[in-house]
Amino acid sequence: MPFDPYRLLWPFVRVLDPETAHGLAIRALEAGVVPAPARVDEDVLTVRLWDMTFPSPVGLAAGFDKDARVHAQMLRQGFGFVEIGSVTPRPQPGNAKPRLFRLEEDQAVINRMGFNSEGHEASVRRLERRDRSKGIVGVNLGKNKETEDAAADYELGAWAFGRLADFLVVNVSSPNTPGLRALQGPEPLRALLTRTRRALEEATRSTRTPPLLLKIAPDLTDEDKADIAQVSLETGIDGVIVANTTITRPQSLQNPYKRETGGLSGRPLFEASTRVLGEMYVATGGDLPLIGVGGIEDGQGAYQKILAGASLVELYSAMVYQGPGLAARVNRELADILRGEGFTSVLDAVGQKRP
Ligand SMILES: Cc1cc2nc3c(=O)[nH]c(=O)nc-3n(C[C@H](O)[C@H](O)[C@H](O)COP(=O)(O)O)c2cc1C
Repeated sequence: MPFDPYRLLWPFVRVLDPETAHGLAIRALEAGVVPAPARVDEDVLTVRLWDMTFPSPVGLAAGFDKDARVHAQMLRQGFGFVEIGSVTPRPQPGNAKPRLFRLEEDQAVINRMGFNSEGHEASVRRLERRDRSKGIVGVNLGKNKETEDAAADYELGAWAFGRLADFLVVNVSSPNTPGLRALQGPEPLRALLTRTRRALEEATRSTRTPPLLLKIAPDLTDEDKADIAQVSLETGIDGVIVANTTITRPQSLQNPYKRETGGLSGRPLFEASTRVLGEMYVATGGDLPLIGVGGIEDGQGAYQKILAGASLVELYSAMVYQGPGLAARVNRELADILRGEGFTSVLDAVGQKRP
């Protein structure tokens, strides 16, 4: 096993308040003092999708780099792409602290950040400076807490980031913004996606229009999922990210923080989010690329998401416990598993196991 500096750091990290630890991680990455692991260049991991080439299907999920500060550094850690955000149009502080909890025994996290964001302008400024040849960076769009016409905030997102992002995500699935998840209902969702798509096309009339994705919650009824699949296909969006954090609390949870309000992520989310992913794959007839997120902590987890229907995957919470070197480790393990199972590319394995 290669030397992993995070193992030495962990005893110090775990005694810090989680949000303080996260802030320090961002600052260390910005300062360039986090060593990057050796690159894992494996043809079997390359994914061609939406006219882009992902060097690995393993991406960084939204919420780690909310304000586009360290996307380049995270690409160097081995992520095949990075999703920044959620970004809200105007800056907002989010919920009162504490609002981030580690459940170490459960290898889980609960958060009720509530879209703390420096706002569009700050991220636009940072993304304008980026070297686009260095990797794929998507932008996850949120809404301000006070905005009543939610679609207007996503339209603003399309205008702000349409020319800067490699893909855009309409996030209507965070549990910490009142009313947000109700936008997943068929009528509001159709209107929202139609308006955002139109804005994006207008904003990028003379250039490439980036793919527009929808990110959904894992806590949906069968009817919700069928409706979302239908609306996604009808409105012509380019993909769905499955899933955000869950408001449910599996019986298995040990840590007393399980009673905290917020969205649960990490290991206890793996099973449910993978099930929803498989259901969405079936409901969309395999016609819509899916990104599988929730509880991935190793190559096997990434592989299971791909078998369930994911063309790409993302992770966040496991990195809290294993450090940023996790990306390279998942890449290595996933490449070995794919080859061992006789696959020559990720896309050949997508959806090979039905729910
Ligand atoms: C602290 C924290 C903040 C998050 N913030 C966002 C966010 O702003 N927007 C979003 O779409 N998802 C957000 N997420 C959800 C993740 O992107 C991901 O969907 C979820 O955590 C499941 O993946 P994981 O189990 O690998 O963490 C956040 C997750 C965590 C733990």
